[in-house]
Amino acid sequence: MRRRRGIELGYWSFIKKIANLHFLDPACGCGNFLIITYRELRDLEILILLELNKSGQLEIDVLPLIQVDVDQFVGIECDEFAVRIAEVAMWLIDHQMNIKVSNEFGQYYARLPLKKAAKIVHGNSLRIDWETIISKENLSFILGNPPFIGSKMMNEIQRNDLLAVFNDAKGAGVMDYVSAWYIKAADFIQNTNIRVAFVSTNSISQGEQVGILWNILFNKYKIKIHFAHRTFKWTNEARKNAAVYCVIIGFATFDISEKRIFEYKDIKGEPLEIQAKNINPYLVNGTDTTIQRRQKPLSDIPSIGIGNKPIDGGNYLFTTSEKEEFIKIEPKSAKWFKKWLGADEFINSHERWCLWLGDCPPNELKQMPNALKRVEAVKRIRLESKSISTQKLASTPTRFHVQNMPLTD
Ligand SMILES: C[S@@+](CC[C@H](N)C(=O)[O-])C[C@H]1O[C@@H](n2cnc3c(N)ncnc32)[C@H](O)[C@@H]1O
Repeated sequence: MRRRRGIELGYWSFIKKIANLHFLDPACGCGNFLIITYRELRDLEILILLELNKSGQLEIDVLPLIQVDVDQFVGIECDEFAVRIAEVAMWLIDHQMNIKVSNEFGQYYARLPLKKAAKIVHGNSLRIDWETIISKENLSFILGNPPFIGSKMMNEIQRNDLLAVFNDAKGAGVMDYVSAWYIKAADFIQNTNIRVAFVSTNSISQGEQVGILWNILFNKYKIKIHFAHRTFKWTNEARKNAAVYCVIIGFATFDISEKRIFEYKDIKGEPLEIQAKNINPYLVNGTDTTIQRRQKPLSDIPSIGIGNKPIDGGNYLFTTSEKEEFIKIEPKSAKWFKKWLGADEFINSHERWCLWLGDCPPNELKQMPNALKRVEAVKRIRLESKSISTQKLASTPTRFHVQNMPLTD
């Protein structure tokens, strides 16, 4: 009897605990992460109430017992349309969970008029002081999937946001936009028990970005990784939405003894959980060591160089079928095609070709009117550019901006 009473008290204190948790998604979009978190908390609460109901603990009126509410959730989002959707979506899920309460307990349950709301703030998360939105003392978790934008894909505003958050740290220019949320969150959680977990592109746990980001996270902010999902493939139903290779990294400023790595043998399948003593930024069980960028090879092997950068407005690049069509109308161009292999072609197995006329003697070029049209188009595009250095390249239109043509394999 006494044991049962102890269990029931445990249930009540658990409900109280989950009703006092607060969550921030600092790039919340339409609020999916907040919505799912809320739904799961409400489900937990219902389960506990059902257990208590079994033991005859519950009063007839279940209403006052429901404590988890939408105002435990905070989001920041720069797209105002998404902000409004997130606000309403939180009420929608609230409504659905209230219907579930009604069905489970056989009593009509609604929260009308709507007195509480999730706080979804419209603004630039990297420029806002998060403390003006939620106090650190109240916050339990930061979560989300902030935007992944590679360093070469960012616009000027995004680049400036990132550099400001990184305080112009050395090498910050190569970081993915998402990494700024790691720094911002790490800064925010100093001297707190707040836990953070972000879904990110796996590029922040590979290659040169690791040394730059994690040196700051470890040395300046004393971050410890608590759990990590290694690379998995994340697709969604949005049109044109390319599959992204993601990781999830959970961290805080304090250490825990039971760290967990989730490994995906099949990147589209279910993970296998591994216990780890420590999780390093490459998301393996090992010490918090990072490999720093270097420009010279350690041993006697050729150095890795940058590839080619045409600045051609796409005029020299062809898919296999485009190349074949072109050769049909311009047979002499066949010998000037070279295989084009960039990261996208390599990772996603696309075949692309490049019409490389940099070494084509002028008399041969004259005999290829269609190729010549491409050269003229490149010249025009370069002349129209705002960049002076690109305009200068218009005088050598068959050549690339950056050329790296190895003569051997
Ligand atoms: C990958 S999506 C997250 C989607 C979200 N989990 C959802 O449920 O819709 C990233 C979101 O970050 C927003 N975003 C991009 N840059 C931002 C910034 N600087 N501040 C705030 N939000 C930003 C985008 O508009 C986008 O909605």
